[in-house]
Amino acid sequence: RAQMQAHSMALTEAMTHACDFYRGQLRGAAGAIAYLKNRGLTGEIAARFGLGFAPSGWDNLRSVFPDYEAVVLAESGLVIDKVDEDGGNRKRYDRFRERIMFPIKNTKGQVIAFGGRVLDHGEPKYLNSPETPLFSKGFELYGLFEARQAIRDAGYVLVTEGYMDVVALAQMGFPQAVATLGTACTTNHVQKLLRQTDTVIFSFDGDKAGRRAARRALEACLPHVSDNKTIKFLFLPTEHDPDSYVRANGAEAFEQEIHDAMPLSQFLLKEVCGEHDLNGPEGRARAQFDAKPLLQAMTPSSLRLQIVRGLAQLTQSSPSEIEVLFELAKPV
Ligand code: UTP
Ligand code: MN
Ligand code: MN
Ligand code: MN
Ligand code: MN
Repeated sequence: RAQMQAHSMALTEAMTHACDFYRGQLRGAAGAIAYLKNRGLTGEIAARFGLGFAPSGWDNLRSVFPDYEAVVLAESGLVIDKVDEDGGNRKRYDRFRERIMFPIKNTKGQVIAFGGRVLDHGEPKYLNSPETPLFSKGFELYGLFEARQAIRDAGYVLVTEGYMDVVALAQMGFPQAVATLGTACTTNHVQKLLRQTDTVIFSFDGDKAGRRAARRALEACLPHVSDNKTIKFLFLPTEHDPDSYVRANGAEAFEQEIHDAMPLSQFLLKEVCGEHDLNGPEGRARAQFDAKPLLQAMTPSSLRLQIVRGLAQLTQSSPSEIEVLFELAKPV
């Protein structure tokens, strides 16, 4: 146990050193600075999020870590060990090269991972730290540490998909934004968010992937919905994500989108009814069929009752018929 702690301390220390190095490198990197400026970011916002730059070259971290061969460096994900097929030669090199660096912090403010963006159209667009003893993607939210006070002040949190969304929104006057790290929003994320605030507004990209992400977020929320929590979904035009939207349309327009965001109950009913013809019995049955697992995932609450009522009305049933059919009243 003590050894484990010493170990994670060494990992945290390595991440902190690397973060300082990347931040320092950004100062002299004209291309990276031009890139950030071109995306509308100020030096002030870059500093607030601790943005950095990993220069080109295979082993720049040698200058940061005198013992570049240390085991902890591989475990941190900062370097990659490439082993020959015969298992003979091992070559170590820096994972992040020629990328804008976004440090990911835990709620204590310690750097636990990085996301790195290419400056051009290279692949992958974002390279992330691997899972390490410090970093588990399904648990962490980018920007949560930086956003904590703003979330309290605003009374809600905005959940986006991307690093750039968080940073751009903060600059445009919405510092209460966080991002899932390119993964689906998990129940762990939802629980973590609902510990910070009672209102969560999802604002994913307007494209197909973003809509799928909203559906998955809905499912992740259902077990944690209660009558004193509010979950909403903000749907942007197909071509936009929060970053591009707020730049194209301004803060006021985005504020209006937040105001108009769709409550969970409405989104759920739209999801299950939207694709069916409710003018016929088959369509109404299909809608109920689709609704069943979603309502079953919810714990009993007034909100669930309201959704049942809404579904009953849309599908020409009574709330009690639905409760019996879906076995909602059955004690667990
Ligand atoms: P997007 O493709 O929507 O990126 O992926 P973005 O944030 O809008 O990026 P910009 O505006 O082009 O810079 C959303 C998120 O998915 C993860 C990242 O966390 C990204 O912010 N992602 C995306 C990756 O991890 N790797 C990728 O190659 C792409
Ligand atoms: Mn996208
Ligand atoms: Mn974007
Ligand atoms: Mn995007
Ligand atoms: Mn709209």
